[in-house]
This record gives sequence, C-alpha cells and structure tokens, in this order.
Amino acid sequence: MCGIVGYIGTKEATPLLVDGLKKLEYRGYDSAGVAVLEQMQRRISVVKTVGKITNLEHKLAECMPKGCVGIGHTRWATHGRPSDVNSHPHQGCSADFAVVHNGIIENYLELKEWLVKERGHEFMSETDTEVFAHLLEEFYEGDIVNALRKTLSKVHGSYAVGVVAAQEPDKLVAARKDSPLIVGLGEGENFIASDIPALLNHTRDVWFVEDGEVVVLTKEGAAILDKHDHEVNRGVFHVDWDAEAAEKGGFEHFMLKEIFEQPEAFQKTLSGRIQEGKVRLDELNFTTEDVERWEKVFIVACGTAYHSGLIGKPLIEEFLHIPVEVDIASEFRYRNPLLNERTLAVFVSQSGETADTLAALREAKAKGATTLAITNVVGSSIAREADYTLFLWAGPEIAVASTKAYTAMLIAQYLLSVYLGQVKETIPEDKARAILEALRQLPEKAKQLLAQKELYQQLARDIRDAQSIFFIGRGYDYNLAMEGALKLKEISYIHAEAYAAGELKHGTLALITKETPVIALALQKNTYEKTLSNIMEVTARDAMVIGLAEEGDTEIAKWVSQAIYIPKIEDIVSPVLAVIPLQLLAYYTAVERGCNVDQPRNLAKSVTVE
Ligand code: AGP
Repeated sequence: MCGIVGYIGTKEATPLLVDGLKKLEYRGYDSAGVAVLEQMQRRISVVKTVGKITNLEHKLAECMPKGCVGIGHTRWATHGRPSDVNSHPHQGCSADFAVVHNGIIENYLELKEWLVKERGHEFMSETDTEVFAHLLEEFYEGDIVNALRKTLSKVHGSYAVGVVAAQEPDKLVAARKDSPLIVGLGEGENFIASDIPALLNHTRDVWFVEDGEVVVLTKEGAAILDKHDHEVNRGVFHVDWDAEAAEKGGFEHFMLKEIFEQPEAFQKTLSGRIQEGKVRLDELNFTTEDVERWEKVFIVACGTAYHSGLIGKPLIEEFLHIPVEVDIASEFRYRNPLLNERTLAVFVSQSGETADTLAALREAKAKGATTLAITNVVGSSIAREADYTLFLWAGPEIAVASTKAYTAMLIAQYLLSVYLGQVKETIPEDKARAILEALRQLPEKAKQLLAQKELYQQLARDIRDAQSIFFIGRGYDYNLAMEGALKLKEISYIHAEAYAAGELKHGTLALITKETPVIALALQKNTYEKTLSNIMEVTARDAMVIGLAEEGDTEIAKWVSQAIYIPKIEDIVSPVLAVIPLQLLAYYTAVERGCNVDQPRNLAKSVTVE
C-alpha cells in the first residue's frame, strides 16, 4: 500500500526522504518518487520512477534535487498501471505544487472532466491523485492551507496527502481521511509519514492525525487544525521501540526475525493482563450487565486475522455460552448481518487499517453493536473508531506475511474469552486457571521450538518442488491448518489447501498421490484416533506426510515420514505453539525456492482498498 514521507528542516531533504521510503517498503509498492522544493528558485523538482527504490536512487544519482523541504512516496497502483508517469508525486500544469497521496479519490473522473472541459487543465497521468494537484492550482490564491481546504471539500474518498507549494517554500501541508498519517516532531525539523518506522531515525515524538484534520509544518513548528481551522491540542505519543525493532536486526528477512520475536511478543501481549488467577483488561472494563446483554458475538477480519478468529469462536462460545459467527470482512457487510445493541462485534486486524475490516466496523457501529478492535497499531483507524480496543503490543510487523501478530491475536482472544467468561461467571474456575497457566508457559515453550530450525530447513528441501500441498487436522488443528496453508502459498507460491481431516474422503482424497505432501496436525486429544485414521488414508496413497504431534507421542512416528513434536501444553492453547513449525516450514520453503519472502508478489502489508 502507498507510503508517504515528508520533511521540512535544515538538512538536505532527498536522502532523508529516500531513507524514510525504504522504511515503508514493507507496505508493498510498485513505484517511488520524491519532490523537493528548491527554495532559492521557488521551484519544485520531481524525480520518480516505476520499480523499486533502488531505481529511484539510480535516477537521483544523476540529478539530485537540492533543498530542505520535500515529500516522497511509494505507490501501489490502483488507478492506472505502474509506470513512471503514474508514480507520485503529481503536479498540476504549472508545476507549482507537488502532491503525494495514499487512498482513492472516488469522484476523480467527474472532477477531471470539469477541470479539463471547463477549466482547460491538461492531465499527464491516469491516476486519481493528479486531480488533487490540479484542484490545488485551481483554488490557490496565495494561501496553500486555504487551497488545500477547498480541494478537500471537492474530493470524495480516502486520502492521506502531503503537499508542497513553490510559492510557499517554508511550509509543508498535509491532511487525512481514512488513510494513516502521522506527524514526527523534531528540533528545527518536522516530518509527516504513513507509519512510525519511517521516522525512527529522526524522532520518537509523534502525533496521530485524525480524519478531517489538516497539518501545517514549518521547520520551527507544527500544527494540527480541525475542520474549523482551530488548532488542536494533540498529545505527543513517545515511541519507545528501539530503532532495531523496526529493522531486520541480524536476520536474513523480517519474517524470520518476526518469527523469532514471538516469545518476546507473547510476553508483551500477556504483560500485566493476568493477575491472581484473573484476566485483567483495563482498557475494556466491561460490567456484568454489558456482557449479559450480548446474545451473539461476531468476529470479523481478513486473511490471517480471520484465521485467528476461527480459533477465537469456539473459545468464546464455550466460555460465554453464546453463539459466535466468524466472518470474512469483505463478505460481512453485503449479507446484511443481524446486528443490534445485543451484539458484540470484534474486529481483528494487525494493521488496523484494512479497508474491508474498517468498513465492517462502521456497519456494526451504525447498527448499534458494541464494537471491539483487536489490533497491533496504536492510532490506527480501526483502533480509533471502535468503542473498545485491545492492543496486541507485538511490536511492528514488517514482513507481509503475518507471524507474530497472528500468535498475538490468538493470545488476545484467549485472554478476551476468559475475561468475558469471568465477568459473566460462565467459565469454570479450574478451566480458567488451566488456560492462564498454559498462556504463562508459552514464551518458554516457544523458545524450545525455535531452537530446532535445522529440522525445518531439511523439510523445506523435501517439499520445495511440490506442486500442491495439503494441510489436514480436526477442530483447533483444522483452524490452524488454514493458517499454515495460507502462509505457505503466500510466500512460496506453492498451491496449498487446508482440509478438515475427516472431509478428505469426500472428494479431495482423489488428489493425493506420492507427489502431494500432506502436513497433518494431530494435537487435539479428543480427535486424535480419528486424525490418525485420516493420516493412514493418505499414507496408503503414498503421500509424504509430515505429522505435528505432542511431545511423547510415540504412535504418530509409525505413520508419517517425519514427526514434529510440540512441547506439551493445554490442547486448546496448542495452536499458538503449533503454528511456529508451520511458519518456519513456509519460510524455509520460500527461501529454498528463491522467493521474495518479505514482499511476496502481488501482495501488500496493509490492504487499504476494498
Ligand atoms: C497475512 O500473512 C496476510 N498478509 C494477510 O492475510 C493479512 O493478514 C490480511 O490482509 C489482514 O491484515 P490486517 O491484520 O492488517 O487487517
């Protein structure tokens, strides 16, 4: 998804902007560019190109714009294919303005027609963003903030925009609606960005910009203006992640680093939330009346976050004694779900910016449901709009493939379900105690699992040439199998599918041959024998089977080519550990196949279009 950076200060802007854009690469992009205001000449120089930031650096090496004010952008194409001309920044006819934009201007065709036919503007690109630059030009009367306001009043859709104007070389302005934007506050310099990693080399003090607000930066100061042009008194958020946390820190890829960060992430997600046998979630503070009012729970999310919800569903059903539905966010709104004030709607999202999840949240809110966000990103749209938010505190996740956020989402849902059960007094005390004790053991047990990476490297060599791989399991194992399959296909590009183990014989068994590896999850004791029979069904078809079982299981090794053992843990908490081998297997398989692990083809970290 597009990334924005902006700088105003006393240093050369170009290298700062390029550095910031590199920190946003994880968002996925197909082109990049910068616009720098050459103050003396009151001229804006734009350098942009399709492809990776290295392409931009090559171009900049030939003609580096000089100046201390500028904006930069990484584009993920929506309107108009990836090309040099469609890359941002965009300018109007006179080149007096430069604009970077993340989001979609929904009425751009109508505006473009007006600008071309009625006002004689000529357009260079196929993008929706270019109308923004032309509108600024149209409305500019010596005050860029006014021109920006007028432009914003004409556009419909979502945006985070950064703007520089040649006539006002001491200002950088920005605005947001439904796309992330933050301000970085420095000494004699200020910044805008789509996300914190872009700023960490320069400042740790940030403001989160809200929808409808306009930002005015000079090198000496920064202001956020509300829609009545009143200055907003926004609290400073001090980022206490060390710079390392947003970098790869010794690992070959962010994904591997994030897999290995899980013991620490577990600790953080749990931190302070279990006290004297009770779950304490201060940010929720639900009363017994609140919880008793709910007759139904929805869990709504996309991709990996959706898979975490599949595990959350049986937990809440068991501990709260009410039905739970799990929905893919892009489907949810269109099926007119039964939502009212007796519903709790939970929205799970690592980024907190996923457009479908955000739209589903708004729908639930409008229909009177209590909305609860589970997210990793403070200041994200979903966090800000939900009635309640449970943060994951897993630290920034950079790799497109979600790993530590998934396990943190699971832990958050164990905590939430036990918490709600305790508030409503519907969870048996011994059950709650067993789960909380299992959660407490997770960091240590995850470390044990991570110590066996050579095993996964070997297994990756065994499966790297497969055309298709099946993941099977029952109950929680089946829900986890879906995540294992998604992880493998997302980064290794091998077709992978998850099946409820008992369902294979109803059709899919026809696809099992000796060329089709099967990853079989056999961690749930109540279905263990049945899963073992399903494993026998596939070994009888000569499939190579990798079995995941609990430490001490001597039976499974008789039926599989390779057994992977998970440290003993309460059955229902086992997915948090069992996913680690699946993540590592996906990772090493992708590496074996020479894939771009952190930025798989066609994918973006944060999907901010519906
Ligand atoms: C995870 O590996 C995927 N890249 C993707 O499915 C992701 O989980 C999904 O896009 C939802 O993102 P979110 O958690 O930021 O809402």
